[in-house]
Amino acid sequence: MSLEPIETASRDELSALQLRRLRETLRLAYEKVPHYTRAFDNAGVRPEDVRQLSDLAGFPFTTKQHLRDAYPYGMLAAPRERLARIHASSGTTGQPTVVGYTQADVDVWSDLMARSIRAAGGRPGQLVHVAYGYGLFTGGLGAHYGAERLGCTVVPASGGATERQVLLIRDLRPDIVMVTPSYLLVILDEMERMGVDPVESSLRVGILGAEPWTQEMRLEIERRSAISAVDIYGLSEVMGPGVAQECAETKDGLHIWEDHFYPEIIDPISGEVLPDGEFGELVLTTLTKEAMPLIRYRTRDLTRLMPGTARTMRRMEHVTGRSDDMVIVRGVNVFPTQIEELVLRDPALSPHFQLVLTRPARLDELTVQVEARQQTSSDEKQRTAQTLTAVIKANVGVSASVEVCDPGALERSLGKAKRVVDRRRPAG
Ligand code: DLL
Repeated sequence: MSLEPIETASRDELSALQLRRLRETLRLAYEKVPHYTRAFDNAGVRPEDVRQLSDLAGFPFTTKQHLRDAYPYGMLAAPRERLARIHASSGTTGQPTVVGYTQADVDVWSDLMARSIRAAGGRPGQLVHVAYGYGLFTGGLGAHYGAERLGCTVVPASGGATERQVLLIRDLRPDIVMVTPSYLLVILDEMERMGVDPVESSLRVGILGAEPWTQEMRLEIERRSAISAVDIYGLSEVMGPGVAQECAETKDGLHIWEDHFYPEIIDPISGEVLPDGEFGELVLTTLTKEAMPLIRYRTRDLTRLMPGTARTMRRMEHVTGRSDDMVIVRGVNVFPTQIEELVLRDPALSPHFQLVLTRPARLDELTVQVEARQQTSSDEKQRTAQTLTAVIKANVGVSASVEVCDPGALERSLGKAKRVVDRRRPAG
């Protein structure tokens, strides 16, 4: 299997390519997108000011709000007629964010997804079962075009109809499954319910992303099946899946495809750029996008950058969570991934869990609802809950009540899991 030359190029070659592409992208944005003309002028910066990559730090950030304000077509650098595709991110609040792609953008995306699938261990000729949702969400079509580009056979299953997913996997015998980790668990549960042993299934590679997941979740999936589980990252605004991919041979974080995206980590409060290795918010600048170039887009995803290993490109650590998903309970910050880690250390507990926030009096309360792996007595559930309460207090520093419920009690999601349920009444 041969990699693309840029995947193993020298760091100098990669930086030179990045600088050239960065200058072109800044020029395109400045000339074609009124938002960027204004924003650069206000900040007193010009595309030609950029002599080295670090000069990007002088440019203003782009936020989700800027994209909302420009709804639907205001951020486009290409006329609508030149778009080959439109996707939209659902957004939890109100209007969606629209993303446009020229044919060249769709081609780059397909190439990067093909590169990602190959890095995950996929090869031409293999059968790929895509259970990411098809539609405005970028998961399904992004995976689909990439798998075709690599020369695979694609089963566009999309999300949902879990029993049918199992039948398709049993009968068509795919090598690779592309799906959110939480929905893969639902499929594995359904396999077991239908008497199909996941370990005996044909699946060998899982390309899992679109939501945060932990090392413990990887172990859970790999223990229950013959799947090698690797992480894939991306976001609609910047492209879709395939911005960064974990390599099968190292499984040590995700290589950001830096020939197409320039990453920075910033302090989310001050906005200051942090050195590699430090945790902060990931900020991405597109280097080749035609229809919707984005300059210093604040992803809200928290991670850190590390040097390349299996590829020249730098790696990002598995995303801890979005700053939006962080719950603050009596001054303590809690990410669902922290709870996932602790839940999965207890063999009596399943990976199906939810954080419920309430405000019965004036203070916020956190309840962790988690399913037992097997039916047990209520005494046993009580004991398990007490243990987890203590473990959470010791590791996260927050007092949470834990409710251990029966297997199957919590709602399943067909795509991204909903980990936080906010039942607080507005303060006041
Ligand atoms: O979730 C794109 C995607 C599809 C990625 C399929 C991977 C696989 P959005 O719906 O715009 O796009 O959501 C993007 O999801 O900012 C992260 O917060 C989160 N996310 C995506 N991948 C990961 C991951 C797609 N591997 C948002 N780990 C991002 C943690 C992830 N969070």
